[in-house]
Amino acid sequence: MDKIVSLDAKKVVDELGVSRDIKNLKKDISTLDDVIQTELDTIDFNSKINNIEKNAISLELEYIQVQNKYLELEILHNNQDLLYQKALGVIFTDPNPLMILDSKTFKIDEVNASFSNLFNLTESQVKGKLTSELNIISLDDLLSLEKRLLNKDEISNFELKYISSTGEYKHGFLNVRLYESGGFYAVSLTDVDQLIENKNRLQDLNAKLEELNQDLMTIQSQMKQSYKDAVSLSITLLSKKSDETSEHCDRVGLFSYELASEYGFDEYHSNIIGDSARLHDIGKIEIPDEILKKPGKLDADEFNYIKRHTNKSENIFKDYKTFNLASIIALNHHEKWDGSGYPNGLKGTEIPIEARIAAVADVYDAITSKRVYKDAETHESALNEIFNESGKHFDPAVVECFIKSQTRFKEISNKFKEKKYD
Ligand SMILES: [Fe+2]
Ligand SMILES: [Fe+2]
Repeated sequence: MDKIVSLDAKKVVDELGVSRDIKNLKKDISTLDDVIQTELDTIDFNSKINNIEKNAISLELEYIQVQNKYLELEILHNNQDLLYQKALGVIFTDPNPLMILDSKTFKIDEVNASFSNLFNLTESQVKGKLTSELNIISLDDLLSLEKRLLNKDEISNFELKYISSTGEYKHGFLNVRLYESGGFYAVSLTDVDQLIENKNRLQDLNAKLEELNQDLMTIQSQMKQSYKDAVSLSITLLSKKSDETSEHCDRVGLFSYELASEYGFDEYHSNIIGDSARLHDIGKIEIPDEILKKPGKLDADEFNYIKRHTNKSENIFKDYKTFNLASIIALNHHEKWDGSGYPNGLKGTEIPIEARIAAVADVYDAITSKRVYKDAETHESALNEIFNESGKHFDPAVVECFIKSQTRFKEISNKFKEKKYD
């Protein structure tokens, strides 16, 4: 008890108070620790959850991106294949030397047969190689070409020197096209020397063709002359029988040429018609003199006999193809447009045009020249007679031609008359 009484009251209060505060504080701290720990645990857990979620989302996005990239690549790959296949189709059918280069490595993927032949290199010798390894293009050209390829330039008609299988430098044009989406270059080479050679060969062929053409023209001209000579020889023989008849034949030939030209035949054919018409009366060579040269009028029998000169002419020519047209004219020159002529009574266009032409020429000369049985009549009377007989004796179209060319008819007649009195 004394112990208690002797205690300082303030000290006791202080002592007890402090003790209680510390206990409370410790208790509070302990409680706070629990709370903090609980809080901390909660915070960490949420954060972990967040991180995992974020990672999952990020991974998923990444996956989608990768998947898209994969799809893109797959599409690209398919397109590349398609384009590449198309390019292969082209290079194997192209007659020019062609190759396909990988657009990244510049190595040769494919070449065609023409390329292999030009450089005498097999497919296995070139596949996977760089062009520079093959020694097929001159170094200067190769460097310049590589520079342009690296710049991804489109190269058209790049003039270069290439080295052929025989080791010679030759000229060529290179065309390069980049197929970026296909991942390759298509390279084609045009052989300029071959082009020049082809051009020269073409020029040689043209020159030979021109020579042949000249030869042909010479032969044609010789044949024309031969025909003229054969006709002249026949007329010379006829003149031995009758000068009058042979001169008549010469003039009918010239008149027929004029009418044929006027009718629209070209120069070559007008000449053939003229020459052939000269022989229209050749059959008269077989007519006895007493009828052919009879000064007076012929009786009916004599006239019927003389009419046979048409068939006689045909008979003379029958074995000679060259005289086919002369035979046609000789047989038909007395036929009439209205069908009243002889020997076959042909009508209109049944009568060959060459004979319709010779008919007008024949009658014009018969009227305007002197015969043993009559005097020469004027050009005007012949003109009237022919004009009146248009559509009866004569083809109206040929009469038209005669009217247009009558000045030349007069000139020919006059020349012969002058010749006679020279
Ligand atoms: Fe006749
Ligand atoms: Fe005649």
